[in-house]
Amino acid sequence: MKIIRNPGFLFLFFYLLGFLGDAPVDAAVKKYQFDVQMKNVSRLCNAKPIVTVNGMFPGPTVYAREGDRVIINVTNHVQYNLSIHWHGLKQYRNGWADGPAYITQCPMQTGQSYVYDFNVTGQRGTLWWHAHILWLRATVYGAIVILPQPGKPYPFPQPYQETNIVLGEWWNRDVETAVNQANQLGAPPPMSDAHTINGKPGPLFPCSEKHTFVVEVEAGKTYLLRIVNAALNDELFFGIAGHDMTVVEIDAVYTKPFTTKFILIGPGQTTNVLVKTDRSPNRYFMAAGPFMDAPVSVDNKTATAILQYKGVPNTVIPILPKLPSSNDTSFALDYNGKLRSLNTPNFPALVPLKVDRRLFYTIGLGINACPTCVNGTNLAASINNITFIMPKIALLKAHYFNLPGVFRTDFPDRPPKAFNYTGVPLTANLGTSTGTRLSRVKFNTTIELVLQDTNLLTVESHPFHLHGYNFFVVGTGVGNFDPKKDPAKFNLIDPPERNTVGVPTGGWAAIRFRADNPGVWFMHCHLEVHTMWGLKMAFVVENGNTPELSVLPPPKDYPSC
Ligand code: C2O
Repeated sequence: MKIIRNPGFLFLFFYLLGFLGDAPVDAAVKKYQFDVQMKNVSRLCNAKPIVTVNGMFPGPTVYAREGDRVIINVTNHVQYNLSIHWHGLKQYRNGWADGPAYITQCPMQTGQSYVYDFNVTGQRGTLWWHAHILWLRATVYGAIVILPQPGKPYPFPQPYQETNIVLGEWWNRDVETAVNQANQLGAPPPMSDAHTINGKPGPLFPCSEKHTFVVEVEAGKTYLLRIVNAALNDELFFGIAGHDMTVVEIDAVYTKPFTTKFILIGPGQTTNVLVKTDRSPNRYFMAAGPFMDAPVSVDNKTATAILQYKGVPNTVIPILPKLPSSNDTSFALDYNGKLRSLNTPNFPALVPLKVDRRLFYTIGLGINACPTCVNGTNLAASINNITFIMPKIALLKAHYFNLPGVFRTDFPDRPPKAFNYTGVPLTANLGTSTGTRLSRVKFNTTIELVLQDTNLLTVESHPFHLHGYNFFVVGTGVGNFDPKKDPAKFNLIDPPERNTVGVPTGGWAAIRFRADNPGVWFMHCHLEVHTMWGLKMAFVVENGNTPELSVLPPPKDYPSC
């Protein structure tokens, strides 16, 4: 039996019946079993037990077609309580399947299972999944590939083959232990020891003969690379020696194609590119290295994988691309400025033109007193000076059942006081206020949110992720947002539509979305170190005025705390 949970699906069904009578319209059910289990893995000559799904690192790829129902039974066999998030899936009315621990569900305890049951509606492209508690996503992550409906071509030349390129970070130490120790000191956690491509750091690292990802290609073809940044804390450049890439999709939304030597991809983001194998048969390195244009230390090592033309012997030393330097701000601004929604009749950019509610959120760092920390202080991060405190009961549950005392709905629409946000570094009065405060939003409100980086301690680029929605990035800029001048420059025609936006270092990003998905939706910086320090909040989007526009009932096996 098929449960149609989303009216959009019905619309699609009739649409297809009307216009594509010969195409198979039956949405399929795709089932997966995810066993979360420990596995000994060795990288950089260093073995350690890691948390995995099904013993795989990275974990299995979830394949679906637009319109499918996906049912993933997750069973937790490890000592950590955990939950899994399907990053970028909109989960219409169905936050129960979204996954962030203590936001939409309590984590699964050891021995427990939970079925994530959701429809894939109105999206096609590359997304990904990851653990959404502690730093477990360091090893618990994988790609999600959503193919177009049967009979629906890509809006670009059909590639000959495709391959996933999932970028990550590797620590030689146990990640949870290292993070806990840093927190006890009140110090930043250690940087990773390597970046990885499909879990492998590549031959620029010791003991990497076996740990190099190789994709074998034929000359004269076009390949689609589905690139995911699953790193915890690093924005990354990615490029292939000798080959240009054509960007065709970001965050499961088609873009106007453009050609580039390198892409920039923040944690949480995905980018699909076409690559023509039109160079002389050889071995070419694909490389990923960090972008960091603030005075913050970063793992500056380069991960490599190999694009190998058929017939070229393995003894040939690959050619290395020269990535932009790690502080190349102008490349970053220029690259992000090229991203545009495709905006065709089949794939329109439905940018809200009228704004019902304007929000202005400052995002930055801070320092709070910490009597139990060795330093007596700890690092914090805040939105509008509020460091978010995780609740003990899932917010979505508290909202659905009207449980009092779990959260407040007085998250302010602007910072407590205006200041020169991006002036000289502010090193005094770095304290933040704390609370589990959410912003309540009426169903179907159109929101414009300006995310303003601050120079509290330091400026930094923050990849901001909103659950439950895509949004349009209508404008970005360096310095302080000017509400008088900047809106005139907004792109309301074909702005990039995505689920994670890189707020420029010492700058701002303006996003718009229509709050038509009821529920509790997390918004946070996707740098794990900043999420941990409190750079997060949530929206409570009220129900619409019919049951079809309201949050679905929770599933029977919904984990309790
Ligand atoms: Cu991919 Cu809340 O995150």
